[in-house]
Amino acid sequence: MKINKNFLDLEASYLFSTVGRKAREFIAAHPDADVIKLSIGDVTRPLCPAVIDAMHKAVDEMADEKTFRGYPPDYGYDFILDAILQCDYIGRGISLKKDEIFLSDGAKSDCGNIGDIFSEDNRIAVCDPVYPVYVDTNAMSGRCGDYIKEKERWSNVTYMPCVAENNFVPALPEEAADVIYLCYPNNPTGAAATKEQLQKWVDYALAHKAIIVFDAAYEAYIHEDNIPHSIYECEGAKKCAIEIRSFSKNAGFTGTRLGFTVIPKELVVDGTALNSLWARRCGTKFNGAPYIIQRAGEAVYSEAGRAQTRAQIEYYMNNAKVIRESLTSAGYEVFGGVNAPYIWLRTPKGMTSWDFFDYLLANAQVVGTPGSGFGPSGEGYFRLTAFGSYENTVEALNRIKKMG
Ligand SMILES: Cc1ncc(COP(=O)(O)O)c(C=O)c1O
Repeated sequence: MKINKNFLDLEASYLFSTVGRKAREFIAAHPDADVIKLSIGDVTRPLCPAVIDAMHKAVDEMADEKTFRGYPPDYGYDFILDAILQCDYIGRGISLKKDEIFLSDGAKSDCGNIGDIFSEDNRIAVCDPVYPVYVDTNAMSGRCGDYIKEKERWSNVTYMPCVAENNFVPALPEEAADVIYLCYPNNPTGAAATKEQLQKWVDYALAHKAIIVFDAAYEAYIHEDNIPHSIYECEGAKKCAIEIRSFSKNAGFTGTRLGFTVIPKELVVDGTALNSLWARRCGTKFNGAPYIIQRAGEAVYSEAGRAQTRAQIEYYMNNAKVIRESLTSAGYEVFGGVNAPYIWLRTPKGMTSWDFFDYLLANAQVVGTPGSGFGPSGEGYFRLTAFGSYENTVEALNRIKKMG
């Protein structure tokens, strides 16, 4: 028996464990300190009443033999696929069909599993800084080459720097890439891409016969009119893009688990529709999202569900506004937080990302996330999230303002 040696090349995921360890050490040394965490990418507001009601109702159905449900369809029940289709796509002028949508247990699984349908010798391109799942899952399947520790990079991956100078939207790569991962609105930078910017990527993918994996987990946070909610708003995208969505951040499903992937039938590579490959993959490796959770997801699209989840998003985005405005008035250079729940700031006085982490913890008892942990181009930046409570957010920012 041999193990998959690709796992041995993966660096231990030290970012959030180091953040957690440093915070714990600080608390142990300062037991009276009131430490506020603005580092988490997890939601904190409870599920909204429309969702809870739907879940209760579905639980009761499962208790009655007349309404009990066993295995769900592999790709999702019609009731939720119809709601997704109508609200997220047709309502926005995008024509798709139900069998182009595949329900899942969340975007992380889909971002990781989608590689199953790509050849091992494809070259991937990712933004730097980046949500680490895209790279690590490709590394697990041997697509990334060797890890070069000094450079914090894999030999066969194209890294596309996203920095203030390019408004955190990368330039088209000089070396050809086969699979391009894009995430907008972006974690960690909080940046959004305009339709024109995304169209350039779609045109590039079409011209180079590449595929875009578009992670739209933060779509619900878009507030500006010129920001597309779906990659399929761009012309030609159905021929080159896969879109991944999540219920985690728009409806607080991080612990409830639901997401979906869209693969239009027009997306054909070497005569094969990727839709059929993904359908085969899901049919073999996935037995569907739980009925109760699919009913919860359906409720997100009800009139009450839409109003209630929108209120939650506005709650977080009000925190984002507090963070942005407070930091700006304290003289920081601040990005994001307008179409995303993440605020990305430039570390002051030339501090490294980790220097600023220590400085903030020691002087304001606030925990954030060092930008360098998301990739080398994140050095000199720092991420704060809007997912805390309003009270904690205001208190944290008051402390940061006083810190000077
Ligand atoms: C960019 C991005 N994609 C996907 C996910 C995971 O989403 P899910 O909870 O649906 O697995 C996250 C979670 O933080 C994320 O930031």
